[in-house]
Amino acid sequence: MTTQLVSPPDGRERVRAYPHLRYMGSKYKLLPTLASVFAEVGGVTALDPFSGSGVVSYLLKAMGYEVTSGDYMAFPVVLASAACVNQDQLLSNDDVCQIVEGGNQDGRDFIERTYDGLFFTPADLRFLDAAWSWIDQLEGAQRSLAIASLVLAAARKQPRGVFTVTGMRYDDGRSQLHMPLSEQFKLCVDAWNSAVFQASPCQAVRGDVSQAPTGADLVYLDPPYAPPRDDNDYIKRYWFLEGLADYWDNGAAEVMTTTVTKKLPKRQTPFGSRKTISQALMSTFERFEDSTLVLSYGSNAVPALDELMGMLRDVKGSRPEVFTVNHRYNFGTHSAATRRLAEEYVIVAS
Ligand SMILES: C[S@@+](CC[C@H](N)C(=O)[O-])C[C@H]1O[C@@H](n2cnc3c(N)ncnc32)[C@H](O)[C@@H]1O
Repeated sequence: MTTQLVSPPDGRERVRAYPHLRYMGSKYKLLPTLASVFAEVGGVTALDPFSGSGVVSYLLKAMGYEVTSGDYMAFPVVLASAACVNQDQLLSNDDVCQIVEGGNQDGRDFIERTYDGLFFTPADLRFLDAAWSWIDQLEGAQRSLAIASLVLAAARKQPRGVFTVTGMRYDDGRSQLHMPLSEQFKLCVDAWNSAVFQASPCQAVRGDVSQAPTGADLVYLDPPYAPPRDDNDYIKRYWFLEGLADYWDNGAAEVMTTTVTKKLPKRQTPFGSRKTISQALMSTFERFEDSTLVLSYGSNAVPALDELMGMLRDVKGSRPEVFTVNHRYNFGTHSAATRRLAEEYVIVAS
């Protein structure tokens, strides 16, 4: 099924259509600032190599850029494929009916077997297995839309959207926590379908930032922020969504069977440690030195603003410009985690 929606000129209206995924470090609240900065920078091509929820890639697409999105995890790439790469395909009512009501095509039960009693209800887990038995027959944009809908539904049904604890200890009363996953899935399909629009061609590529393509006019860098305490590990929080993106590598993923949650193993990134993040940032700035760099970073993370400014000045040869926005966000994974008020920096180095 196809659609012919056209983006409004500056994209700020269109970006409201992007489905909301609760994701550590996502920039939904900073979109107005980023939109103004991007408009000032201009250019035709943009790279977003830490795309996460995908909302900034979507803003860039809506502003007319040819965007390349990337992330070292699989599910962010599926989200960018569904809403940015995809220009005109929708998931039809027939597709949704098959996925929700068609039954289990091949008897697969990896999710039910592995996560029974740990996450969601038995009926929800059976739905995920059965849904994947249909999704495996889809290709291209329809497949991305269907997986993106499963990912969003699972994130919305999980308390706080993170998979660090089992059960409903953090039930905050949201009705989404108690809605059957299959119903949630239908709403999420509507949400992704509504986000589809036609603009310049875009790409989504899974991989480490050190391998991301160079040469874009604008490179938006939103790496994990390294907090002085706590950790910034994405797999630890979102491994279930990562598993859903490829059906746990078709059931062959290395599940950590001795852990309470049966999570997936941590994936190394130099942005995950205070000891290695400065060097990782410097290498990233050097890799994209020919582009205008727009860097997001937080005031309560390391390295501090002075050091970042020094690095960018060394690479680009001129003093970067800094925009500061007050921002309240969660960093912790446990009940002791506080909602901290911090400053978000948007640093432009051209
Ligand atoms: C702060 S989040 C990006 C948030 C995103 N801009 C948004 O608005 O949702 C950082 C992202 O970097 C990804 N990441 C971590 N290390 C990476 C690496 N070495 N290469 C590419 N992506 C990486 C994580 O998976 C995470 O999605």
